[in-house]
Amino acid sequence: EVWNPNGKYRVISTKSMPGTRWINLLIQNDCRLEICTEKKTILSIEDIIALIGDKCDGVIGQLTEDWGEELFSALSKAGGKAFSNMAVGYNNVNVNAANKYGVAVGNTPGVLTETTAELAASLSLAAARRIVEADEFMRAGLYDGWLPHLFVGNLLKGQTVGVIGAGRIGSAYARMMVEGFKMNLIYFDLYQATRLEKFVTAYGAFLKASGENPVTWKRASTMDEVLQEADIISLHPVLDKTTYHLVNKERLAKMKKEAILINCSRGPVVDEAALVEHLKQNPSFRVGLDVFEEEPYMKPGLAECKNAIVVPHIASASKWTREGMATLAALNVLGKIKGYPVWFDANR
Ligand code: DGY
Repeated sequence: EVWNPNGKYRVISTKSMPGTRWINLLIQNDCRLEICTEKKTILSIEDIIALIGDKCDGVIGQLTEDWGEELFSALSKAGGKAFSNMAVGYNNVNVNAANKYGVAVGNTPGVLTETTAELAASLSLAAARRIVEADEFMRAGLYDGWLPHLFVGNLLKGQTVGVIGAGRIGSAYARMMVEGFKMNLIYFDLYQATRLEKFVTAYGAFLKASGENPVTWKRASTMDEVLQEADIISLHPVLDKTTYHLVNKERLAKMKKEAILINCSRGPVVDEAALVEHLKQNPSFRVGLDVFEEEPYMKPGLAECKNAIVVPHIASASKWTREGMATLAALNVLGKIKGYPVWFDANR
């Protein structure tokens, strides 16, 4: 699909993206926009090299693509100066290779913070109240009357929510669970936690002033402290060498028998095979997963675990957010072409 065929700058989008703002932004700024209409979901390196061709000023790409040496070298040969990943996570991008070939990298933070945190909160509630199992039970025609034991789950109020990775999304999730459900909070982060600290301090003061029972909160000095104390643990770190299999067999064993684990970050943060074993051996342990170690696949056995809720990497999938991500992704490429700043976390 080609927009503004006579535009001066050739910009490729490897996928169609929601909304029209991003399209207008590019075509009103002298770009010839080519949107790949290939039906297969995941494009190979060869597919993308073919799209780049001999002349390409910038590419908007997706987290399913492997942006390493080969692609950055092809883009640079075609005169390309910018690559924008339509995602906040950029573990699919080799930033050193981009630097080597003089290609600026952009990502799309901010616009997906609340939407992603809302999915983590939805999965937390769905797991705590066993909503998916109960829905399946109804649809199977198994409901034959109210029973005191039927789908008994957990009351969140007064329980402890644990957050690992207290950046933008982790902090928004913590705010939802503390403010919305009056959960106590324990969190762990190697870096930035001031956003979260400011919120809990202010919220604690508000509760005190309103005469309500305050929630308790603490910054843990080790991740294991969070695993041992929390009733619901939500993972929000970036994926890199240090966070690969952050949650492994040993760490799963440290969690409460009835704990709930939520992952809306990246699949490889959890050792999925170890998780499947843990789910099988501990039927009261529950999990809500938006991401998987080798997407689009799930490790054998996970689909059969009744104590797992699985959704297909949809945490940022609200209309407002996806349109915002597309706009930011286009702005990044346009910015580089026109000499404006490119938004990229790792540059800050
Ligand atoms: C991201 O942005 O990194 C998400 O995984 C997709 O929105």
